Amino acid sequence: MAERVLVTGGAGFIGSHTCVELLAAGWDVAVIDDLSNSSREALRRVEELAGRGLRFVEGDVLDAAALDRAFGDGPCAAVIHFAAKKAVGESCADPLGYYRTNVGGTISLLGAMRRHGVRRLVFSSSATVYGDPAPEACPLAEDAPRLASNPYGQTKRFVEQMLRDLAASEAGWHILSLRYFNPAGAHPSGRIGEDPRGVPENLLPSAMQVAAGRLPELRVFGTDYPTRDGTAIRDYLHVVDVATGHLRALDHLSAVDGCAEYNLGAGRGVTVFEVIEAVRRASGREVPCVLESRRAGDAVAAWADPALAERELGWKAERDLDDICADAWRWQSENPAGYGT
Ligand code: WQD
Repeated sequence: MAERVLVTGGAGFIGSHTCVELLAAGWDVAVIDDLSNSSREALRRVEELAGRGLRFVEGDVLDAAALDRAFGDGPCAAVIHFAAKKAVGESCADPLGYYRTNVGGTISLLGAMRRHGVRRLVFSSSATVYGDPAPEACPLAEDAPRLASNPYGQTKRFVEQMLRDLAASEAGWHILSLRYFNPAGAHPSGRIGEDPRGVPENLLPSAMQVAAGRLPELRVFGTDYPTRDGTAIRDYLHVVDVATGHLRALDHLSAVDGCAEYNLGAGRGVTVFEVIEAVRRASGREVPCVLESRRAGDAVAAWADPALAERELGWKAERDLDDICADAWRWQSENPAGYGT
């Protein structure tokens, strides 16, 4: 009898890629997603890629009844919790909305897990808990100071703390928080990928849309940083590597008594200009740029020391920046309007 995992936000960018890997690994998958920033078509394509079905409940993790429907009647071995708002800029404009969904939604989910006797959780955290670290502090290990500098990063930091407090207060919890650096790219099939609503905030989808002619030019936010070429440095991680990191985390839950946190990153720092060059190589297109001042809230540099995940989860990024750009370009060029919503 295959074990079942409930995936909140499973229709989203990282959630959909994770569901493909879960199904391929033999898990039964149930998804709850309110489709506020994702598409039902993504899940149809997940089933197409996996060659098998999943159970989908449309609903908000703040809705206890929807969660009870998603848990259903059968046994559930674990939960992977992706459902959250995740745009830094938006979080500064709507902090209460972010605390309500990201912190309140997690409290609602934990209540449902208790009702259904499930105490194994993989939580989707983020490297933004580290805020704007000094470049010399990179690569960042898990014990780096958590100095979140925007409401989005604070919600992730608060949830991590809440999970630690819960595990300390009640025996039987097995919880892993995964701190992603910069997930990017798409499934190599070209069938699922990142489909941001409106004008993308993030670098990779923006650069891909410029290469495809969907946007006129790429805005480069800051060329006066103290880095090798003046642009900011990040750790871009292939979304399929992020997905496999969740499978390793599920396998490791039994070994965790309480809570643990792991950085998911490639362990490589890459500048904005280096990403743009990689997009030009992958697409064979020009990427016209306009150089602008720094974007508020941006860190100079943030890249991971992934040694702990490698040692304890047996996980390591297997794909590089050129793989990210090749797969992202295939998704962009084969799906110019994303999922068509
Ligand atoms: C990367 C670099 C920009 C767009 C955020 C969240 C993080 C995660 C990923 C959820 C920066 C520059 C960007 C553009 C640019 N999301 N840039 N022109 O800000 O590192 O991380 O998204 O988990 O939590 O914080 O990613 O891709 O927005 O920016 O020059 O059009 O690219 O200034 O230096 P970021 P990003």
